[in-house]
Amino acid sequence: MPKPTLLLTRRFPDAVEARAQRDYITVPNPADTPLDGPALAAAAADGTVQGILCAAGDALDGDTIGALPDSVRIIATFSVGTDHIDLAAARARGIVVTNTPDVLSVATAEIAMLLILTAARRGGEAERMLRAREWTGWAPTQLMGVTLENKVLGILGMGRIGQALARMARGFGMQVHYRNRNRLPEAEEAGATYHQDDTTFLGAIDVLSMHIPGGAATRHWLDTRRIAQLRPGAIVVNTGRGTTVDDAALCAALQNGHLRAAGLDVFAGEPTIFEGYYTTPNLVLLPHLGSATVETRDAMGFRCLDNLDAVLIRGAAPLHPVG
Ligand code: DGY
Repeated sequence: MPKPTLLLTRRFPDAVEARAQRDYITVPNPADTPLDGPALAAAAADGTVQGILCAAGDALDGDTIGALPDSVRIIATFSVGTDHIDLAAARARGIVVTNTPDVLSVATAEIAMLLILTAARRGGEAERMLRAREWTGWAPTQLMGVTLENKVLGILGMGRIGQALARMARGFGMQVHYRNRNRLPEAEEAGATYHQDDTTFLGAIDVLSMHIPGGAATRHWLDTRRIAQLRPGAIVVNTGRGTTVDDAALCAALQNGHLRAAGLDVFAGEPTIFEGYYTTPNLVLLPHLGSATVETRDAMGFRCLDNLDAVLIRGAAPLHPVG
């Protein structure tokens, strides 16, 4: 059987590309920049591409999916999030979409914990001070943060990433509260407290960690009203999707002191970020590093290839379909 043809929209880890090249005729994107809709459709346009291995920055909106040739049978995204793909348009064209659940949960939870620690202990401000050669020596009141032990961590979205974070946070002596579509007995057996409404949840916590998907339903979930429901001095971190935060509202609450600090790994409109963030000192910024470990990125790529193999090589059902 001839090898199927696979479009790689980005450079992927070496081990992932090696396996793809072994089992497929690959069409690379040597520029390694996200493909916009027309570029993506053009790259797949010769009528031989059967699978697309894409990533979160690629724009697979309805027009792009509509413009793909009939040869395309599966889009495997190198991400757990699928808000960059119009799932309804893919379904209408009979194109299978798959993602990479599970394998990035611990790495992403580690980045959430890193942001919580860095925000609470003012790591960003401290490092900037040293690099600016402004440190004049130890002082009793210099750069005082807050201790995490006995503080309440509120996890918004208690999926696999939220549950991994809960385990880590307990190691720091934090209490865990959570807000989720449904109650999770296993989370509560581990000691987490469930809230059935946003108001009691936000009023009960010291640190909010956001793990909800992007898309219209969650746009600006954290807005001025909900920020006001957080306790004065609360900390906010987001490793889910940037669209879930009203940037202007968050920035104002950091600057007026209602919030102590925040940490963001994701932004609406990446790689552009809200202008006010650059000059807000009590804010830690990371460039979407959630899943960026060698182990995790290999595992994500292999998971994509497992799905592509199932559909294009074995003629079987995908392992991780979405939509
Ligand atoms: C994901 O997997 O959704 C990460 O945010 C990378 O895009």
